[in-house]
Amino acid sequence: MATLSTSKQSSTDNSTDPLTLIDVDHVRFFVGNAKQSAFFYASAFGFQVDQISDLTTGNRESAQYLLTQGNIRIILETPLSHKHPASEEIKLHGDGIKDVAFTVFDAEKAWERATKNGGKSAYEPRTYKDATGTITTAGIQTYGRLIHSFVSRTGGYDLPKLKQGGLFAPGYRKVENYGLNAFNLQRPCGLKFVDHCVGNVEMGKMNYWVKWYEEVMGFAMFKHFDDKDIATDFSALMSKVMASGNHLIKMPINEPADGKRKSQIQEYLEWHNMTPGIQHLALRTDDELTSVAELRTRGVDFLAIPETYYETVWKRVDAMLTSHGHHAVKEDHQRVRDLGILVDSDDEGYLLQLFTKPLQDRPTLFFEIICRRGSQSFGKGNFKALFEALESEQDRRGNL
Ligand code: FE2
Repeated sequence: MATLSTSKQSSTDNSTDPLTLIDVDHVRFFVGNAKQSAFFYASAFGFQVDQISDLTTGNRESAQYLLTQGNIRIILETPLSHKHPASEEIKLHGDGIKDVAFTVFDAEKAWERATKNGGKSAYEPRTYKDATGTITTAGIQTYGRLIHSFVSRTGGYDLPKLKQGGLFAPGYRKVENYGLNAFNLQRPCGLKFVDHCVGNVEMGKMNYWVKWYEEVMGFAMFKHFDDKDIATDFSALMSKVMASGNHLIKMPINEPADGKRKSQIQEYLEWHNMTPGIQHLALRTDDELTSVAELRTRGVDFLAIPETYYETVWKRVDAMLTSHGHHAVKEDHQRVRDLGILVDSDDEGYLLQLFTKPLQDRPTLFFEIICRRGSQSFGKGNFKALFEALESEQDRRGNL
């Protein structure tokens, strides 16, 4: 049986900056029905439903499913009573992301440093222990409903062991005989890791949170080809990209801007109880065409890209690439068009990307499927096309 204590965990390396991030440990979703959500993400996106913590493992507070694909770990959590804090959050915001958690060397030290830097604690360090090993977590509050947990792991719960199929934490068990798991191994969707996660904050608050990530987390503004404010007539949003010291994770932060029509960021906030949160999670693939083709076969609903987009895209993208001495886009142009994929380029190379429609009924969280061929930016050149596509969706929802 797992034990919970608040005892201090011994430090591994005092010379290490406690805010050095080793990995994205996991992303935690609060959902209304984790059992059904697990089936959706497994069926639509090819995740393995790998582990569970629920009534059958002695967890009487919530049901938690660990879904994995490549180096992506998602926890889907559903409260089992109205007393659980997740119940109130789901009531206010619907299904969505609560926690982007980072593996660190020492969670307690990371939390101490972040709170000393001015971060507000979400919860104090706690250590879960059993014969297999320990896991220590501590959380800080970032924008809106979102928190960042710091997670440090020892023994059998070490990250390398977890990546090889080890248990996530005390109180979890492996899921046996989940039908879709075998199917997904035969028909992989090819998603490898979390490339970036984008947050929406209120108008006028972007720079506040940029500073917060600098001061509290030790992040820096990510310098790249389109690092200036990307507000345009079309996008009606402003965005700045924050990156962790080792560029493990990039966190663009959006705020709405005044435009002719209602900003997509404003629409998000209105359906998210006027509370900032994660707008999209970008999942990286090495092969955009194969991933998107498989996801489409599985019924994933992607944004429809206007036909007119493909009339100009190759000229725009290839001209940029050749002017910087790069090869043109190697993917078959007709297939890119048939699959409705977006392409963009900068001085470092190009990228392919595509955005799903919202993953739940509220127009809030969605996924991006991204493949990078040298480019480290975020598809600035697609903003116009994307904005038009998003706007027509917004119009269909009566929110324009
Ligand atoms: Fe993105």
